[in-house]
Amino acid sequence: MIGFIGGTGPEGRGLALRFCMAGEQVLIGSRDPDRARQAASDVQAETDNGTVSGTSNDEAAQRSDTIFIAVPYTAQRPTLTDLKNSLDGKIVVSVVAPLAFSKGVASALPVADGSAALETKALLPGSTVAAAFQTISAHDLLEANKPLDSDVIVCSDDNAARELVMDLAGKIAGVRAVDGGGLANAGYVESLTPLLLNLNRRYKARSAIRITGI
Ligand SMILES: NC(=O)c1ccc[n+]([C@@H]2O[C@H](COP(=O)([O-])OP(=O)(O)OC[C@H]3O[C@@H](n4cnc5c(N)ncnc54)[C@H](OP(=O)(O)O)[C@@H]3O)[C@@H](O)[C@H]2O)c1
Repeated sequence: MIGFIGGTGPEGRGLALRFCMAGEQVLIGSRDPDRARQAASDVQAETDNGTVSGTSNDEAAQRSDTIFIAVPYTAQRPTLTDLKNSLDGKIVVSVVAPLAFSKGVASALPVADGSAALETKALLPGSTVAAAFQTISAHDLLEANKPLDSDVIVCSDDNAARELVMDLAGKIAGVRAVDGGGLANAGYVESLTPLLLNLNRRYKARSAIRITGI
């Protein structure tokens, strides 16, 4: 089972949709289980493949083997502190990009631990942490009839977890998974997100990343 903490937001719903389209079983978590059930029903309406249901964040954490953290960075610490026990022993995937906006311009928020992913690892010593999808736009994910056209860089200090998340990413049409090495590299990926958002504004476009030469 693939779960989402904060799965009612556009990024969580978008990834839930793409995994569902790939035939996976998905659980959307929320602070409000009714909101999660509504999000799940909206996602399921877009695809006949897979199954998606909604529940509380805590139940999503408990019932999932692989669980995505899709809350805003500002909510990460309290959310993970609350769910720490339920996330023990799980593969936890951070999609979080710490961002701030000023007059429409995005910038990367400094994180004392080095990145949102490393902070997640520090907060969840009993979980295996990976980071991926920080550069994939929710707008693109939610357009079910359009394949994506992007690389997804997957970082983890655990080889098996990195491979598992790379396999999952590769199930999404139009995505190539790139081995990003250890979690120390996740911060570099997180800081690409504000750059892409600023490029989108400048070009009135939806940018994504492709790594060449590998
Ligand atoms: N949007 C994108 O295009 C995009 C692209 C790449 C990466 N990301 C990253 O993905 C993550 C989610 O993005 P998003 O745009 O989906 O975010 P969002 O809509 O702002 O928030 C996602 C969900 O998090 C929960 N949440 C919000 N505030 C919270 C709080 N104070 N405490 C606990 N839960 C809270 C809410 O769920 P409930 O109210 O239902 O609990 C909300 O629906 C972010 O870290 C972002 O950096 C986003």
